[in-house]
Amino acid sequence: MLNLIFFDTALELVPFSMLNHPSVRRNAKRRNKKPAETLLDRSLHHYGMTRIENAERRGRPDIIHFCLLEALGSPLNKENRLKIWVNTNHGYTIEVDPETRLPRDYNRFKGLMESLFINGQVPQNIGAPLMSIRKMSIEKLLQKVKPSKLYLLSSHGEPSSLDNLVSKMVSNENPCALVGAYPSGQVSSDIHKLADEVISVYGETLEAWVITSRLIYEYEKQFHP
Ligand SMILES: C[S@@+](CC[C@H](N)C(=O)[O-])C[C@H]1O[C@@H](n2cnc3c(N)ncnc32)[C@H](O)[C@@H]1O
Repeated sequence: MLNLIFFDTALELVPFSMLNHPSVRRNAKRRNKKPAETLLDRSLHHYGMTRIENAERRGRPDIIHFCLLEALGSPLNKENRLKIWVNTNHGYTIEVDPETRLPRDYNRFKGLMESLFINGQVPQNIGAPLMSIRKMSIEKLLQKVKPSKLYLLSSHGEPSSLDNLVSKMVSNENPCALVGAYPSGQVSSDIHKLADEVISVYGETLEAWVITSRLIYEYEKQFHP
């Protein structure tokens, strides 16, 4: 089983300080929603975001959309050998059931995430939801996952081929990989401290979904239960 945790995921509802910004109100009105019930999205709210903290790492739901499509559609997931969690930049954790079929369409994906933030789970009112969200720090999440070894993937890590990294992972009983689902910038020191190993698998920064799909594919090749 491979545990995959996306950290610092740039996924959140529009913050209070931006609720009156014209770009937020316009988009909410067009979609017939309250501004507070819409996701922050840089492609729509770019100008409004200039005044919020850490803006360069926020408002990119498209990143986790791509990552989840790659991960959930993989043979590893279909064979129930992948467990996915999403930890957001504001300390929420989303547990993703392997059976989840995400909308391919980005706007429908955003609608689903809005419903998840507002109602706590999707679909609503069923015992075993496909996704559920709650306030939970990555430290708490790790206490639940109990990884035997925690590998942080970072362009600033120790250089290693993906092949070598995965050969170490598959020899572990309950390995866990951390992939950042944010646009750019250093991995925070809090995340760094948690990892047993920090590994770079390429000489430059790659997109989170490229790392996700390659890691999973390499794991599929080397993992023989
Ligand atoms: C756009 S990057 C974030 C940029 C950041 N400079 C970094 O890699 O630490 C998104 C995520 O993809 C993964 N990633 C990107 N390039 C990588 C590389 N060369 N080696 C390992 N992981 C990488 C990391 O998990 C990273 O947090």
